[in-house]
Amino acid sequence: MEILQVESLGFALSNSSSLIQPIMQGFTSLFLLGSFAFQTIFGLPSASRSRREAALLRRSVDDFIATEEPIALEQLLCNIGSTGCHAQGVSSGIVIASPSTSDPDYFYTWTRDAALVFKAVIDRFVNKYDASLQIEIQNFIASQAKLQTVTNPSGALSDGRGLGEAKYHVDLSAYTGGWGRPQRDGPALRAIALIAYSKWLVANGYNSTALNVVWPVIRNDLAYVAHYWNQTGFDLWEEVSGSSFFTVAAQHRALVEGGALARALGTSYATYDAIAPHVLCFLQTFWSPSSGYTLANTNVNNGRSAKDANVILGSIHTFDPELGCDAATFQPCSDRALASHKVLIDSFRSIYTINSGIPAGFPVAVGRYPEDTYFNGNPWYLNTLAAAEQLYDALYVWQAQGSITVTSTSLAFFRDLYSSASTGTYEAGSETYTALYNAVFAYADGFVNVVERYAQSNGSLAEQFDRNNGSPLSARDLTWSYAAFLTAAASRHGIVPAGWAGAGSTATSVPAVCRATSQVGTYSTATLTTFPSNQTPITSSVPTNTFTRPTVTVTTPIPSCTPVTSVAVTFNELKTTIYGQTVKIVGDIAALGNWDTSRAIALSASSYTSSNPLWQVTITLPAGQAIQYKYIVVNTDGSITWEADPNHFWNVPTGCSATATKSDSWQG
Ligand code: NOJ
Ligand code: NOJ
Repeated sequence: MEILQVESLGFALSNSSSLIQPIMQGFTSLFLLGSFAFQTIFGLPSASRSRREAALLRRSVDDFIATEEPIALEQLLCNIGSTGCHAQGVSSGIVIASPSTSDPDYFYTWTRDAALVFKAVIDRFVNKYDASLQIEIQNFIASQAKLQTVTNPSGALSDGRGLGEAKYHVDLSAYTGGWGRPQRDGPALRAIALIAYSKWLVANGYNSTALNVVWPVIRNDLAYVAHYWNQTGFDLWEEVSGSSFFTVAAQHRALVEGGALARALGTSYATYDAIAPHVLCFLQTFWSPSSGYTLANTNVNNGRSAKDANVILGSIHTFDPELGCDAATFQPCSDRALASHKVLIDSFRSIYTINSGIPAGFPVAVGRYPEDTYFNGNPWYLNTLAAAEQLYDALYVWQAQGSITVTSTSLAFFRDLYSSASTGTYEAGSETYTALYNAVFAYADGFVNVVERYAQSNGSLAEQFDRNNGSPLSARDLTWSYAAFLTAAASRHGIVPAGWAGAGSTATSVPAVCRATSQVGTYSTATLTTFPSNQTPITSSVPTNTFTRPTVTVTTPIPSCTPVTSVAVTFNELKTTIYGQTVKIVGDIAALGNWDTSRAIALSASSYTSSNPLWQVTITLPAGQAIQYKYIVVNTDGSITWEADPNHFWNVPTGCSATATKSDSWQG
């Protein structure tokens, strides 16, 4: 196909749901860093006690991830037909949203959920060949080829409209009940997942499979994106009809990456290349300079704040490790994305009881959007994990590029974590870089800790957890929750997905004038849905995109002193007790017993007097670590008295002193 001239592209401006009209008119701490860092710690000449404590601190998140990862993968696969343990009778390759069949009934397949789940599976497969995952991937692709042909209340394949349907029965038949439709993110997300597998096929010499089996499915989805991106539709939460950041970000990525794949396969790409820049142009309109955050939904007047995890999900699912902190594509470490992260996370602090009293800069449970009322409006595991994943992605890029830039837009985000942060670019190795890096790492881990705290003890992840008491709620074993866990964990390991924009690409150049270009698509049934056998990798195993998270060490001379990585903190607690009672401290990290009172640390009464009832203990903690804790009294009979709310919140100081004091008195 020839490169289409802009003038020859269809314009959708006459349509009342056209979106672009207004634009047209107006136009630690070292221990936070994994095994390599541990070696560094062990190499330090400082006290062995602090090394042990440091290792303990990390263990909570490391242990949780090590335990949960296989569970998440197993449970995710359980939800895929036809052999998944919770998906009996489900068509081959079809992903159920959850095994829950009532309150809510999620025993359907959603295009969005399935695409995100398989993107996670494919990225895992690309990183490490696994024949059984490959069969799942092939079954998925075959199932989607069929699903594309199913006529449904959104329409049929003939003019593409049917592709905008959000959910189907597990036997592939149409769901005909009322629903928020169309939802235009599904085709883009599915294309992105299938492109990831196609790239693996091409890289391993299986071009003809990519071209003849997978591409026909991708082509329909890309045609849909190019055709309808400029029309309103329902958001990912299926509630708001308008324009949605998540959807548009995915559409942009799909067109860019689809164009590159089409080129590699020697097939037509001009339409995708012509339209993608205008989708990016439209994407810019979601950034609100006056609000200081990205608006999740526009072209809608629903009275909401537009603060929504939509924006974090959009950012992590369009992460390209080679794009640096590009703001036009809202990369995870861009100032826009970090500013939006802060604003969204803060919006959940005061509204959920389980977050109450937790100040800015400390991790909390994350929901969809503050005005949510679905199941009474609760935190979601997948959004809490996404909050962590965005930060792990950011850390990856900072480390790869060797610097962190704080702008006036992202300053408030950084200040919450490191109060002396100011705008500027900080080179890896500098004291400020190290402090910021470690603080963000600790913050990211904190969101994983929240998930750990509220997950079921057997590792099951539902959709939501109760805003008041943290117990799992709504659909059990949500497939998307498991996928969200796997991708967050991978990013923490430094295993990030392949980029999509392409080297030296213009994927981040925003046209000076936005145009509502669209292209009426041609759609056809993808008929070839069997894969040749034995499609093994060419080379035994060249792990792509594996990254060992480098150690952050301070290598440049620091003017007056050497910043410490751990601090011996003396907790001074004033509490009048009676003979036989013991005061202990317990908190949210392993060194403070992880809120397990049997692992609380006892204080000493050796300086206690009746006029100064002082209890004391010194505990070595990582510099900059955010902690929450409380004091308890253990009575002679073993019973426990807790001091009153709120928890104490404190950041272990950073700087040059290896000791610090924290003075408290009993909250009665
Ligand atoms: C079901 C949807 O899946 C969910 O996202 C929505 O919040 C509720 N319906 C209420 O509209
Ligand atoms: C409701 C969520 O809002 C929506 O995003 C999801 O696709 C469905 N549940 C199925 O998990």
